Amino acid sequence: MIISNKNIPDKIFFDLIKNIKSKKELSEIDDSLVSSEMENVISHDKKLLDFLSSASDMKKIEKSARYKETIKKTRAILRKSVGVFIRMDKTQDFSQLLQKHESTRERLQIYPELYKRIFHITGNPKSILDLGCGLNPLSYKYLKAKPIYYCVDISSNIIEIVNSFFKKNKIKGQAEIMNLREIKNHRLNLPKAGICFMFKLLDSLEIEKGHKLAEKLVKEVPSKWFAVSFSTNTLSGRRMNHPYRGWIEQMCRRLGYFYEILEFENEIFYLIQK
Ligand SMILES: C[S@@+](CC[C@H](N)C(=O)[O-])C[C@H]1O[C@@H](n2cnc3c(N)ncnc32)[C@H](O)[C@@H]1O
Repeated sequence: MIISNKNIPDKIFFDLIKNIKSKKELSEIDDSLVSSEMENVISHDKKLLDFLSSASDMKKIEKSARYKETIKKTRAILRKSVGVFIRMDKTQDFSQLLQKHESTRERLQIYPELYKRIFHITGNPKSILDLGCGLNPLSYKYLKAKPIYYCVDISSNIIEIVNSFFKKNKIKGQAEIMNLREIKNHRLNLPKAGICFMFKLLDSLEIEKGHKLAEKLVKEVPSKWFAVSFSTNTLSGRRMNHPYRGWIEQMCRRLGYFYEILEFENEIFYLIQK
């Protein structure tokens, strides 16, 4: 495996992937996603890169602090991204699943009003692109205009559920596994859609300080409208005193984008027009 022009022996690289995935909650993540986050970790640490590329004695390597550090850092990123896995058995009702994921459960009461308010401003889209979709596509019945629904998520488990939901309900939709953090390194191949949803995505996507990734996404995703949401509750469940995200308002002003805020009890939505 070549990383930043250095060769890390395949045995070491694939052993690392196996080791990272040995934790139950990370075991179902696609190898390619583990591999790309691990490459990021290794390429940003020159000493680690030098160590792994010059190493040969596997037993010694596995005991080393640097090897353990690689595993720890990559796991931390993956945990933040993937969150909770949802298991679905064949008899499970899709509408019950909306209750299982915190974001969609909280939104169940507001979906009709939310979509009404969004599309009152943007007009009914012919297509939607839902980034870091989670189980949100399962709210399709609340979309009056029945758009084509494209969506991506890092979790293969979620993508499997969403694709079977589309199939069962004969919805024109397509769900794909994608690591959106890869936008740091190259352009992502995303379809053009009337509106792009990023519901409660950015807080789990942006691990580094700052909001470069969010800005890149809004600039590069080929949609005219964006609906970007954030929780208005703190981790302990209390309502934030100031739920607004000043940085996104500043970004829109700087880039000359129109924005409007839609406020709900647990969630705040920025509707952005490029
Ligand atoms: C808080 S959940 C929100 C889910 C959904 N958008 C909603 O609001 O109902 C964040 C979602 O982003 C996804 N996610 C996190 N990091 C990601 C990444 N790097 N690439 C793609 N999806 C990611 C997670 O798997 C999870 O489904």
